[in-house]
Amino acid sequence: MTIKKVGVLGCGLMGSGIAQVSATAGFDVISLEVDEKFIERGFAGIRKSLAKLAEKGKLNEPVDAILARLKGTTRKEDLADCDIIVEAIIENLAEKRKMFAAIDPIVKPSAIFASNTSSISITETMTATRRADRFVGLHFFNPVPLMNLVEVARTIVTSPEVLETVIAFGKKLGKTPVRTNDMPGFIVNRLLVPYLMDAIRAFEEGVGSVSDIDASMKLGCGYPMGPFTLLDFVGLDTTYYISIVMFDEFKEKRFASPSLLKRMVLAGWHGKKSGKGFYDWSDPAAPAPQDAALRGL
Ligand code: CAA
Repeated sequence: MTIKKVGVLGCGLMGSGIAQVSATAGFDVISLEVDEKFIERGFAGIRKSLAKLAEKGKLNEPVDAILARLKGTTRKEDLADCDIIVEAIIENLAEKRKMFAAIDPIVKPSAIFASNTSSISITETMTATRRADRFVGLHFFNPVPLMNLVEVARTIVTSPEVLETVIAFGKKLGKTPVRTNDMPGFIVNRLLVPYLMDAIRAFEEGVGSVSDIDASMKLGCGYPMGPFTLLDFVGLDTTYYISIVMFDEFKEKRFASPSLLKRMVLAGWHGKKSGKGFYDWSDPAAPAPQDAALRGL
């Protein structure tokens, strides 16, 4: 099975990153969005990221040569001859099933379907198609061009040949693929989500301030970012959603969302992208911890 052309569903933060690394690795890429303006926004991010990587001498060819392999479309028919489809649309099972059901009759039967979901059941998503044996989880990490891991999740019906093809694809993207089974959170979020939830609980209980807890994990454990910076970076809405799916599956407190996280999400404090989370990001070079507003009395 040879992969030459990659279709990416969604051109948001993750979708544009996946399109970028695929084009950089030499694949022809087509990104599907519902509206031209989302393609424009995603491709602008790709151009910026590639320019930064070029400046650091991390690309093997000129940016324009990479961009020439990248196309955007709003027509599902343009995905027909893709060898692999990587879905990175909204984290919502019904939406994902609807999208896969719509493209299944269009994309050639030999193509592999993959979902970049971080927590939604691959098994439940794949049954919207007639190619359950050619369906996997392919979970990238943010920022996609910099993070070297990709989780490859098999279901009980995934064909071994498909799994190996996707592992090889992950390697061609310059990532280190790890194998995992289709269980909510796969490997990384199984361990990361309880850690992030515990950091919020520790803050709620007054163990330390936002910046002291962050500094502790950075300097004491050598993590690149403290838990609150990472939460703001990943998105509080995203993390909240993942915790709900994982708690629903495992019914264990370690996956349960603390009250503070829910209140922040309801108030629209979604982290860096919304301007406010555990930090105020008005000045991204000097994020201001929000202890006073969050802990109040
Ligand atoms: N493309 C190109 N360059 C980028 C970039 C991108 N998308 N994003 C950042 N950079 C650049 C920065 O501009 C910066 O450039 P300069 O050195 O020229 O300023 C450079 O990369 C390094 O960035 P930082 O200065 O912020 O330095 P850093 O050493 O902290 O590296 C990081 C950044 C790799 C993101 C690092 O902080 C890190 O590893 N953080 C943890 C990230 C993480 O855990 N991600 C996983 C989240 S979980 C997830 O994604 C999955 C899920 O299901 C929730």
